[in-house]
Amino acid sequence: MTRKIKTVPRIESLKRAFNFVENPIPVVDHALKTYGDTYYTRIIGGRKIVMSIEPGFAQHVLQKGNKKYEKSELQTDALGKYVGYGLLTANGEYWLRQRRLIQPGFHKAKLAALVGIMTEEISKFYDDLEERVIQDPNIDVSHAMMELTLRVVAKSLFSTGINEEDIIKLGSWISDIQKHIVKEVRMPIFNFWRRLNGQTRKALGLADHAKKMIQDLIDERKRSEEKYGDLLDMLLDSKYEDTGESMSDEQILDEAIILFVAGYETTAIALAWCLHALREDPGVRAKLESEVMDQTGEYAMESLMRPSYLGQVIDETLRKYPSAWILDRIALEDDEIDGVKINKGDLVGLYVFGVHRNPKIWPEPDVFNPDRFHPSNKKSQISYSFFPFGGGPRMCIGYHFAYMEMRIAIAEFMKRFVLPQPTGHEPDYLPLITLKPRENIVMKLKRRQEEEQMDEEVHAGVTVHES
Ligand code: HEM
Repeated sequence: MTRKIKTVPRIESLKRAFNFVENPIPVVDHALKTYGDTYYTRIIGGRKIVMSIEPGFAQHVLQKGNKKYEKSELQTDALGKYVGYGLLTANGEYWLRQRRLIQPGFHKAKLAALVGIMTEEISKFYDDLEERVIQDPNIDVSHAMMELTLRVVAKSLFSTGINEEDIIKLGSWISDIQKHIVKEVRMPIFNFWRRLNGQTRKALGLADHAKKMIQDLIDERKRSEEKYGDLLDMLLDSKYEDTGESMSDEQILDEAIILFVAGYETTAIALAWCLHALREDPGVRAKLESEVMDQTGEYAMESLMRPSYLGQVIDETLRKYPSAWILDRIALEDDEIDGVKINKGDLVGLYVFGVHRNPKIWPEPDVFNPDRFHPSNKKSQISYSFFPFGGGPRMCIGYHFAYMEMRIAIAEFMKRFVLPQPTGHEPDYLPLITLKPRENIVMKLKRRQEEEQMDEEVHAGVTVHES
């Protein structure tokens, strides 16, 4: 049966266009309240988009009917122009071939080899952070988590091949390129002006610097003939099933950049939101502390993937603050989803943030409650009511990688640092490519070692006093 959905009047879309550019979340939330869980609207440039927070819609587009949809040019051309053509930015046959080739490198057994690299990098980073806390305890954790994930992805890809200075340079180039891409996508009418005033050339120049640096690392690795068991080795050693050939130099370069870009900011943002949520909820924090404090710092793939309260905390973070806050697809043919007509060429917006905050699915959605993800509640979870990593054949390839990294990063953080008291303040959102906090998340950290020493001294003082 056909279902009629409402359309946002053109005049309203136009009126809200500038607010949309500034922060799309309130604009979409308002439209959902006014026009229902699935509605039509037009984006800048006049293109029709079907926006939805129905889990069934997401499941159809990403999984059941995925062959009728592909990524729009916002994700392919706009991004691909700067980061290259590969897993994240390709569609169709080429994407499938690359996915089949690279997927085995992300299987749990292969990733197990990266646990050591990750643990070492995280531990080294927290050593530095402890030093910084001694100098000044006020730490911008949103920035710190960017530095952390940047190092982890760089070392997971290039092991010892990449030095500290280059990692920082790459991170800053990638951030600047991403900012530019968001402007191009949100305000395409000014792209002509951006080309004229040199902004586009500047962003392309940064992308060239990044490519050159990564190409040098690849060349160096090829010359050395040493094996490191890292992601670059995986890319170099992968062979196409049909031809038995490896990727060309250009393909390896594109895929390496893509893994870098896809794997760094998404994870950093989730970690920063997680620390914010833990600061704001002493009950959750205490429960988590009691779980992680008893664990040794030796991590293994198997134990990292076991159900745990830490896993629930991370899932709840990704529910409340999904790094990939919206996914889009373009319809390749006419279709119907739960009675809603989709025309060939329509854009479909799967508003992950809205699904994850839908009170009909998640009661009190703004409350941070990791018990929602207790294993006993898993069975009653509606399919695609929680999909921070997307779904279907294009589901995030770095899913296990990210979970491993986040679990080690949060567990080790809790062991090293004491979070401050809650502030009662929720930062506003800055939904760019990922869902960033609009302001930096700064907190006064205490080294746990210091706190424990103080406890011992107080205890000793009391004992002396009592005797
Ligand atoms: C918390 C961390 C992460 C989140 C929330 C996340 C989220 C996502 C989502 C939602 C997609 C699907 C996009 C779509 O269907 O339009 C995706 C794709 C992808 N992600 Fe992640 N991601 C994370 C971490 C990572 C990491 C660590 C890596 C690599 C090391 C990675 C590599 C990729 C790649 C290559 C794709 C494209 C896959 C394809 O289309 O075949 N991601 N990610």
